[in-house]
Amino acid sequence: MSLEKPLIHFRRVGKEYGSTVVLENINTRVKAGEFVTLVGTSGCGKSTFLKMLLGTEQPSSGSALFDGQPLAQEPGPDRGIVFQKYSVFPHLSVRDNVLVGLEFARSPWLGRLFGGARQTALAEVDHWLEAVGLTRASHQYPHELSGGMQQRLAIAQALIKRPRVLLLDEPFGALDPGIRKDMHQLLLKLWQEYQLTVFMVTHDLTEGFYLGTRLWVFDKTRHDTQAPERFGSTITFDLPLEKTGRSDLVAVESSLDESRRLAPAA
Ligand SMILES: Nc1ncnc2c1ncn2[C@@H]1O[C@H](COP(=O)(O)OP(=O)(O)O)[C@@H](O)[C@H]1O
Ligand SMILES: [Mg+2]
Repeated sequence: MSLEKPLIHFRRVGKEYGSTVVLENINTRVKAGEFVTLVGTSGCGKSTFLKMLLGTEQPSSGSALFDGQPLAQEPGPDRGIVFQKYSVFPHLSVRDNVLVGLEFARSPWLGRLFGGARQTALAEVDHWLEAVGLTRASHQYPHELSGGMQQRLAIAQALIKRPRVLLLDEPFGALDPGIRKDMHQLLLKLWQEYQLTVFMVTHDLTEGFYLGTRLWVFDKTRHDTQAPERFGSTITFDLPLEKTGRSDLVAVESSLDESRRLAPAA
């Protein structure tokens, strides 16, 4: 076992909603700087896992530590999230959308920044717009942006809070393949430049293999056909990607096919 202190440490973590067991017995350690990609059939609890990391959901059992401390019971600036459907404000310009992210992180009670503080904040906003390639769109409104640009905006909004952990929930699922490739390059650049720890859910296994340093498969190890909600998913594959090859991709693919076959029809 590595002596390096993990950034994230889950021990026997479970999550239930009423009598529905979504996740069970999650045991894992993630070091700062890892890029974890998460795959698994629809409904197996991937978003729930991210929400626990974010702090909008709490584990029902077990221990979940962030930097040695119990995960905060609320979202904090150290964790930022990007969803598939863009989460920006339609009535604000690109620049103001990113500024709002900062205002909220800095002064959630006071809201707006004024004067010198606002000027400093705007310089920071412009830095992040440049980092995601949106400088020329800074005065446009979200409805004037393509899907890829909207996701760039959502990423800038998350990153301006300078989170250590970036959570991405199928962020490129709605984008065309060509645009996705650009987004992959952007994400890899940001991950390295800002030394982020990334957790990214994807339904595209190839994307998961390409981007991650580590890939997790979420799946049930126990099934009850009479009561499918009785057992939860856990991490059934944990692959260090630097060391793996194509044969692992095939193995994961067939395991996902198998669990789709077993899953009750949605
Ligand atoms: N707030 C909630 N209350 C009750 N059940 C929920 C809630 N959120 C998620 N679930 C259930 O948890 C399961 C996992 O959902 P989710 O984490 O969204 O899966 P995934 O992201 O892998 O598709 C689903 O069966 C879903 O219905
Ligand atoms: Mg989901």
